[in-house]
Amino acid sequence: MGESYLSQVKRLFSEQEIAEKVRELAGQISLDYAGRSPLVVGILKGSWIFLADLVRQLTIQVYIDFLTVASYGASTISSGVVKIVMDLKAPLTGRDVLVVEDILDSGLTMSYILSHLRLRKPRSLKLCVLMDKRARRQVAVEPDYVGFVVPDRFLVGYGVDYAERYRHLPFIGYLEGLEDEGKG
Ligand code: IMP
Ligand code: MG
Repeated sequence: MGESYLSQVKRLFSEQEIAEKVRELAGQISLDYAGRSPLVVGILKGSWIFLADLVRQLTIQVYIDFLTVASYGASTISSGVVKIVMDLKAPLTGRDVLVVEDILDSGLTMSYILSHLRLRKPRSLKLCVLMDKRARRQVAVEPDYVGFVVPDRFLVGYGVDYAERYRHLPFIGYLEGLEDEGKG
């Protein structure tokens, strides 16, 4: 009982596949930032689980902060108008900043976030995304670290939601029937 909501979710990446990918990313990030202590900035809410798993695999010293932006809400269409709901606590001046995001789609959200953060004069600014829907890009945003290049599907699980549902799933899947709903 209570599991029928899962029948609409088609599995894409298992818990094990995600864990393996997160280990790879963390290994590369630890190498690239050797001897430095970056500020890891998680974009809420979607990056929550990814960030938690990623930082626990890092071998470097990091600081962690969060930025909450208003996203799709209950719709699947990116408006390109991004609202900062909760800003960072820490200043960025002179720091190495690594932004961690769940999905890069049109790039509108991230392009806004990055230019917003750049104004605060970080020493370096890099982007790590778990999933990249590369084919849908509308503005040029090139992530420095990519977990999976994913198809144009509406993805859920592992922190990622549809109308605030499915975030808790340990795997990543897509919702059947939603891909034609005219995203972006
Ligand atoms: P963009 O502005 O079009 O790049 O959209 C990026 C934002 O939309 C990300 O922060 C994601 O949280 C959200 N998003 C994009 N694609 C999906 C999806 O397939 N499922 C859930 N959220 C998504
Ligand atoms: Mg998001």
